[in-house]
Amino acid sequence: MKLLLNALIFLVVTDSCSAFTSSNKFGITGGISSATELYARKPFISGNWKLNPQTRDEAVALGKEIASTITPDTPDIDIALFVPYVFIESTINAVDGKLMVGAEGVSPEQKGAFTGAVSSSMVKSIGVNWALAGHSERRTLFGESDEFINGQCLKLIDEGMSVMLCIGETLAEYEQDLAGAVCAVQLKKGLAGISKEQMTNVAIAYEPVWAIGTGKVATPEVAQDVHSKCRAIIKDMYDEDVADATRILYGGSVSPESVDELMSQPDIDGALVGGASLDGTKFGRIINYQPV
Ligand code: PGA
Repeated sequence: MKLLLNALIFLVVTDSCSAFTSSNKFGITGGISSATELYARKPFISGNWKLNPQTRDEAVALGKEIASTITPDTPDIDIALFVPYVFIESTINAVDGKLMVGAEGVSPEQKGAFTGAVSSSMVKSIGVNWALAGHSERRTLFGESDEFINGQCLKLIDEGMSVMLCIGETLAEYEQDLAGAVCAVQLKKGLAGISKEQMTNVAIAYEPVWAIGTGKVATPEVAQDVHSKCRAIIKDMYDEDVADATRILYGGSVSPESVDELMSQPDIDGALVGGASLDGTKFGRIINYQPV
């Protein structure tokens, strides 16, 4: 349904067509009403390879396999793979322009004595436009604070790049009905200092921690409920146009079996996929989702 509306809008709003061709240009454009923008969010399916695969050859083979699943029948969506730094260039070559390749993170620092760090300008110089920030594994295993994550977001945007800010509550927080409150804090702290105009370079990934890597995907109803809360928070922080234009992806055990129903929810604009993005067939099916 969303895709059908997208197609209609594409035909009707001809002078805005360029906005549909590039994710970072997509967003608030003059002359389009809020109602149109609500349905004009371009879906975004992305994979997060984390600490995988183990060799460059495997990364190249996986990148090629995933790229081969993109056909003329694939929905008109943005597709990206977030991959380990060392595989970025080989993966860019392997996918041959069929999808975007992003970094799993960047340093909030630009240069200097920060052993082991990688800056936004470094990844930009090898063709990267997108990076993740705020993934729960980075928050918990690497101790990245909201302030650090905000620094990453600001640095990427400063560089003219785009950021996918990951947010989400733990199981204990979910059970205490705190999902909305946790997302509000993470959104407000993560996006501090980012202007309304700069929000065109931001996508949000709502990833409940209890669903990541557990096989326990949130039900479409639960995910939709939190996504609509997140959109309301963004409206509160900015305005309705920004809220309508910002893409909010769901992440956490997304699979070929769950993607169709998730993508049919009005406020779910895409998916951030971990485990299933390491399997070309599974991720190919997720890219080629079929809204119900
Ligand atoms: P998962 O990971 O799909 O394996 O649950 C999602 C993520 O961590 O982004």
